[in-house]
Amino acid sequence: MDPKKQTIIFVLIAVIATAGIVAGIMYFVMVPTPEETDELEIYHWWTSGGEAAAVGALVDVFEGLYPDTTVTQRAISGGSGITMIPIITALILAGEAPDAFQMHAGYEGIEYFKADLLDDINDIWADNNLETVIPDVVQSMCQFDGDYYMVPVNIHRSNVVWYNLNELDSIGADPKAISNWTDFFDVCNDWETANPTKDAISLAHAWTQAHLFEQILAGEGIDVYESWINGDIISGSDPDLLAALTILETFMTYTNPDFNTLAWDEATDLLIQGNSIFNVMGDWANGEFLVANSVYDDDYGTIAVPGTSNMYGLVVDAFQHPAGVAHPINSDRWLEVVASKEGQDAFNPLKGSISARTDSDLTLYGPYHDWTFADFESVTYMFPSVVHGSGAPQSFSSELSAVINDFCTGGATLAATAIAIAALASANAADFTTVWSLD
Ligand code: GAL
Repeated sequence: MDPKKQTIIFVLIAVIATAGIVAGIMYFVMVPTPEETDELEIYHWWTSGGEAAAVGALVDVFEGLYPDTTVTQRAISGGSGITMIPIITALILAGEAPDAFQMHAGYEGIEYFKADLLDDINDIWADNNLETVIPDVVQSMCQFDGDYYMVPVNIHRSNVVWYNLNELDSIGADPKAISNWTDFFDVCNDWETANPTKDAISLAHAWTQAHLFEQILAGEGIDVYESWINGDIISGSDPDLLAALTILETFMTYTNPDFNTLAWDEATDLLIQGNSIFNVMGDWANGEFLVANSVYDDDYGTIAVPGTSNMYGLVVDAFQHPAGVAHPINSDRWLEVVASKEGQDAFNPLKGSISARTDSDLTLYGPYHDWTFADFESVTYMFPSVVHGSGAPQSFSSELSAVINDFCTGGATLAATAIAIAALASANAADFTTVWSLD
């Protein structure tokens, strides 16, 4: 054969072979294997009626987009993550992290981040233009060292008093006229006088007591709360700490005696049934009223916790991409659905939270949300929750519930409790790495 022709054929064969090899490599690199895309495993603690409905709606959005993927929800009951968080930590450390799990934005994920157990998801934020629709305060809570490690699914409000309107009407009390704790306890007195066998306030087990304490402390002033989450309340004789515990002490005289054995939604249910008039809880409670077909501003209503009407307590649920997960492509797809307008507008109307996006479709939300969307825009101060993982390090927040529970159950005096809370901040001073500026 003509040597020229021979060279051309040789070059052609080489080009085709190289293209084949490259295509083969591309196929394996770019095309997800069936194992990567046909399953998604997520963990969360949304097990109450309202919570389950909300996460179900979010999963429906995912399944609508990816009908060939089976979503396995591992739902671990225990509000505020009390049961799930240790389980997840054990799984992650064992290298068996699920594809994504519910986590609070802020401090809660910092130890995973420090141990290189989370992948950064800057690309998801950029590809989905999230910085243009997520409020700055939430953006910063989703970062560690300037990189994004979470996407938020919502913004819950923590500083909410729920009331039973029919019961308040029965004693002629106007909840909107309550502007301080004295007014609040006066209404409790009046109702208990009219209903001598009942307790005015429904309360549940340990973490809900710490949740309550946190709201009362915020009511002492945003500067007080800021000092607290910066780890600066380190004296047991701090007057604001003592004042907050004094209010809590009075509060406890109006609660159901079995509070320590109830889950948060059982306490909410006492109120729905007219067996109490007040319950302090984050606005995931709204989901329970919806499930019970209670009508906002007719059967029930809300005011901000006394002293906090100009504040919005932030509880932000988020998901992340753990390092080395079994289904990395679906992990990212889940995060994109979680962060999407459609996903958030399916989830949040049922969950009680507002969307973490500023472009949500308000027509999909109910009357309770008119209040929170408006307040989120108009309040002067936002404060991140400690009990719900955002505002202070886990070393501090995980012990706080036990300290407050001891007080609420009569195991520790007010003075001893103040000393214990201050000592917790001192003992964990090195972990308070975020300097919050709330005003
Ligand atoms: C919070 C969480 C909410 C809600 C609540 C009660 O910590 O942020 O989404 O689930 O616990 O379970």
